[in-house]
Amino acid sequence: MKGIILAGGTGTRLLPLTAVLTKQLLPVYDRPMIFYPLNTLVKAGIKDILIIVAPEYSGSYLNLLGSLLRPFGIGLSFMVQKEPRGLADAFILGEDFMDDEAVTMILGDNILEDDFSEAIQTFEKGGRIFAKQVTDPERFGVVEFDSQNNKVISIEEKPTVPKSDFAIPGLYIFDNRVCKIAKQLKPSERGEIEIVDLFKAYLASDELDVRIMQGAFFDAGTIDALLEVSNYVKNNNFNTKFHPDIEKALEAYKTEYKRIASIQAKSKRSIDLMS
Ligand code: TTP
Repeated sequence: MKGIILAGGTGTRLLPLTAVLTKQLLPVYDRPMIFYPLNTLVKAGIKDILIIVAPEYSGSYLNLLGSLLRPFGIGLSFMVQKEPRGLADAFILGEDFMDDEAVTMILGDNILEDDFSEAIQTFEKGGRIFAKQVTDPERFGVVEFDSQNNKVISIEEKPTVPKSDFAIPGLYIFDNRVCKIAKQLKPSERGEIEIVDLFKAYLASDELDVRIMQGAFFDAGTIDALLEVSNYVKNNNFNTKFHPDIEKALEAYKTEYKRIASIQAKSKRSIDLMS
């Protein structure tokens, strides 16, 4: 199983913050947002991860994450999405990376508390999505399903009268046929290739199943949601539940950063003394 984090996009709802920094590098409490989806994949045992980013910030991702997890046997690859063509574009850009394996794709602004190891390790073929009970389903993609056998019955995008109160969070598992299906999709009215059309393609052949998500789910795409998720992380000690490899990597990064900063300060002092 491979992993993809989709971390491009424009982040217009977070302006002016996203005018100076891409959304997925903005802070969520004490660390850049990208660490949360990265943690979700690493916790689930995925060791080969592609991070798709917007062109303007590719260097920042490389500086922060470049070889961060290599000591732990986790490979990170990077790819630039030139323009936001839609969520399903992840599977067109990621085709070579997937190399005929199945993939778990997570949105770079989704912060999920659950451990998905079981759902990922038991995946065999088709598509698998998740369902989280919410009080405002009309804001989301909504899934109606048969809870006896975890089979999806219908999917609706932001319905006025939802058929269930289960939203679809931004974590999806697909077999490798997803690349071919994504390439056949036509852009929607808003000019994007839509992930919901991938769900519908798998649903049409009765190959889409669903698992209920219990833990917290945040889409940090708005100013209020960004504040809310930071408060949640702090108040619930969320960051103490990170995978130990990510914690160790973060500590090593901070130590190395301080070491380089102190060398730079020393060399600046000696230049000042000479002048
Ligand atoms: P969205 O929140 O739907 O879009 P956005 O990030 O551009 O924000 P806004 O609507 O405020 O302008 O995207 C969900 C996630 O998917 C987010 O992590 C960005 C990412 N994304 C891409 O990487 N490429 C894309 O083509 C799209 C549409 C989204």
